Amino acid sequence: MNLILLGPPGAGKGTQAQRLVDTYGLVQLSTGDMLRSEVSSGSDLGLRAKKIMDEGQLVPDDIMIAMISGQIDAASASDGIILDGFPRTTAQAEALDVVLGAKGLTVDHVIQLEVDEDAIVSRLSGRFSCAACGEGYHDTYARPEVEGVCDKCGAKEFTRRSDDNAHTVRSRLAAYNKQTAPILPYYLEKGSLKRVDGLGTMETVFGEIKGIIDGV
Ligand code: AP5
Repeated sequence: MNLILLGPPGAGKGTQAQRLVDTYGLVQLSTGDMLRSEVSSGSDLGLRAKKIMDEGQLVPDDIMIAMISGQIDAASASDGIILDGFPRTTAQAEALDVVLGAKGLTVDHVIQLEVDEDAIVSRLSGRFSCAACGEGYHDTYARPEVEGVCDKCGAKEFTRRSDDNAHTVRSRLAAYNKQTAPILPYYLEKGSLKRVDGLGTMETVFGEIKGIIDGV
């Protein structure tokens, strides 16, 4: 089973992808995580991507398509993939069909997480993650069980994303509305688009997604 999680910044794509990995054994392919790993490695691509990401713009399609193609190749023996953050443009959506089609694969569900701007700002301004294992948290909605200690790995260092500031969040949202939202009709026409209210609790949202996958 192959899924796409679509939605604006802070919609909960990464949060729900992690639950899908744990429940269905799918492989999460997050293009944001891939780019952040390039940034951490200090590669040429990472240096170029950091500037674009800090401005809240999209990294060029040719780079992203090459990046995701390699990762889909690597994950093709798995039970399925969750695309988190890809595609983000019409060119990426069309390229994805070609890459999957060459392997005899298709997208089973495109799940659009719908959230409003207030929720986006509140979620992104409170987001932090474990510096060691990347486990995600939130100042209000998802605090570690023991204050200052990661639930998953026990580390005590946490980080916040440099693109979660108010100025960059506005640019990311504008990029979503201008470049990503226009691909929704592409999936609507194919019959694979499913809308989920992303404003519920993390568990409620996951329940809805599970209902779609399990055909309930
Ligand atoms: P990326 O990393 O993909 O960022 P994004 O799409 O902006 O999404 P986020 O990771 O910010 O949010 P999310 O929806 O995963 O929310 P999360 O679950 O963390 O991309 C970053 C940048 O990389 C882009 O701006 C672009 O420059 C570049 N890029 C990436 N892919 C690209 C591509 N394909 N093409 C070109 N450029 C690309 O949740 C957010 C917070 O809310 C968390 O703290 C969480 O705990 C909390 N939360 C989640 N769900 C709930 C809930 N139901 N209730 C309460 N709190 C919740």
